[in-house]
Amino acid sequence: MTTARDKLFIFDTTLRDGEQSPGASMSPQDKLRIAKQLEFLGVDVIEAGFAAASPGDFESICAISKVIRNSTVCSLARANPSDVRKAGEAIAAAPRRRIHTFIATSPLHMEKKLNMTPEQVISRAVEAICIAKEYTDDIEFSCEDASRSQPEFLYRIIEAAIREGATTINIPDTVGYAVPSEFGAFVRDLREHVYNSDQAVWSVHCHNDLGLAVANSLSGVIHGGARQIECSINGLGERAGNCALEEVVMAVKTRNDFFKLGVDINTRQLVPTSKLVSSVTGFPIQPNKAVVGSNAFSHASGIHQDGVIKHRETYEIMTAEDVGWTSNRMVLGKLSGRSAFRQRVRELGIPTKSEAEIDDAFARFKDLADRKVQIFDEDIQSLFDAKNIQPQE
Ligand code: KIV
Ligand code: ZN
Repeated sequence: MTTARDKLFIFDTTLRDGEQSPGASMSPQDKLRIAKQLEFLGVDVIEAGFAAASPGDFESICAISKVIRNSTVCSLARANPSDVRKAGEAIAAAPRRRIHTFIATSPLHMEKKLNMTPEQVISRAVEAICIAKEYTDDIEFSCEDASRSQPEFLYRIIEAAIREGATTINIPDTVGYAVPSEFGAFVRDLREHVYNSDQAVWSVHCHNDLGLAVANSLSGVIHGGARQIECSINGLGERAGNCALEEVVMAVKTRNDFFKLGVDINTRQLVPTSKLVSSVTGFPIQPNKAVVGSNAFSHASGIHQDGVIKHRETYEIMTAEDVGWTSNRMVLGKLSGRSAFRQRVRELGIPTKSEAEIDDAFARFKDLADRKVQIFDEDIQSLFDAKNIQPQE
């Protein structure tokens, strides 16, 4: 366990922002299954949905609130009284419950989308937080499109939100527009200018439109001082998605010499959780996806295979087992070397009489690999079958 000061809170939004991925809608039963798995994974907060979005979403948040005991259950709510009340009712059964209310703060959104003045936006935020307090004392306030908002306006609205009772302040990069060093400095500037900033946990919520969600989130933590990251399994989310939970968690864990932060995630559940979300949504995981892709711990080239056989750390910065794979994988193909071939022969329990026999089979394996894209264990076995062995001169 880590102390509040050096702990990084993991806020999972697979069931809310993740479900906003076009084509990724989930049934209430699927959501409950995923929520239970997220609790087992150890996430601090499960954003279970957006209670006012539909009766189905409301019911599903209620059902999740009844069974989740260790993680905080959260519902999103626009900053208006009826949304906040719906969120409060939906999470009522959860022992740890949060209302996450938000309103847009960028000039573009305030003028073109909300048609509201900045003063009206502040009043709405304050009113929403005031109502949320009737349901819970764990209240998160988000400034939607923060990265394109005026810092001076953000100072004012965030100060008002904290004064009213917000306990987490979330800075979203809603459209994935930020770049890492700029975003970290942006969060730091806000924390330095908001006079009551130390009365709230600061959070970041980054979208992946430019492929920078994980980098921006980490910069928000390391340079900005944020202590909560909002993320989702497999990076699921609106448009190009959100910060991928498995990547950000393994970055902080693997480079803890640098981050020096505690993350209470059972990393061995990362792959099972990723597979569950993939099968429920029907979104396949790309093979080269960091941590949970099928190639993430596969070694194909002879030089790499030989290195890993001699010492895993030559080409692995974390172990496959630590993130929930059963083992790393030597992919046998035309790039493979003799060491990996020999190791697979041993693993398959193929009896060999001499190193010369292995050399001979290896030569035939190379020949086969030139003709066949994937080499299966049965192919290796057949290289040693009597009928395939050429009589020695
Ligand atoms: O991207 C965003 O701004 C959001 C907020 C509701 C936090 O999802
Ligand atoms: Zn979002």
